[in-house]
Amino acid sequence: MDQPVRLPLIGDPAPAFKARTTQGPIDFPKDYEGKWVILFSHPADFTPVCTTEFMTFASMQEEFRALNTELIGLSIDSMYAHIAWLRTIKEKIEYKHMKGIEVNFPVIEDITMDVAKLYGMLQPGASSTQAVRAVFFIDAKGIVRTIMYYPAAVGRNMEEIKRVLTALQKADREGIATPANWKPGDDVILPPPGSCGSAKERVEQHGEDVYCLDWFLCFRREKRGAGGAGGSSTHDLPGAHGMGMK
Ligand code: BEZ
Repeated sequence: MDQPVRLPLIGDPAPAFKARTTQGPIDFPKDYEGKWVILFSHPADFTPVCTTEFMTFASMQEEFRALNTELIGLSIDSMYAHIAWLRTIKEKIEYKHMKGIEVNFPVIEDITMDVAKLYGMLQPGASSTQAVRAVFFIDAKGIVRTIMYYPAAVGRNMEEIKRVLTALQKADREGIATPANWKPGDDVILPPPGSCGSAKERVEQHGEDVYCLDWFLCFRREKRGAGGAGGSSTHDLPGAHGMGMK
């Protein structure tokens, strides 16, 4: 019988492995201590959706670096296939104004499927030879923080990957959470109060920077003078400030 698919879960240490890559050998996560990593898999080299994803990721590499984050790709292909594909991308492919794109992040050779299996990237219902499109967000301490899985037919949104990374880092730094459809600059959510006392205190906290829609839903304003949740000002929000936590 097939082995069940195992994958690291959010909060788990990222499983360690050593591998050959297009940028030389890596010892993961040891070599990346102190940096965040986006570890992503794709079904195969020389495939169209993967090509658009690689070009887009490569063109954003410096934006990820600015967030102390390195990219690492993987497919169940040989080093020769990786090198030939990346050379073709650089020399021949023009896509959405991207041209001459060099993929400078490491792409793991995983012909043995060892790494793909370690990370649950090989999902037999989809394919027994090609990885699904997995994305692991691994923090600077080597802990898995977010996992995304997409099927072969759907290309990923690299702006969404960057948005999630930005939100995770902000949540860590500032002890906040981010609401639906949050983007940098939008107001953020204060964590729920731990007691009735702190709920009351918070609702009554009519500071410049904090407004509450109810005792459990308080926002911190990010832009002075800008709209609150949904773009309205605090004064426009029905019930804001007046929750009567007596
Ligand atoms: C692609 O990357 O284009 C692709 C790969 C595997 C199956 C379907 C599409």
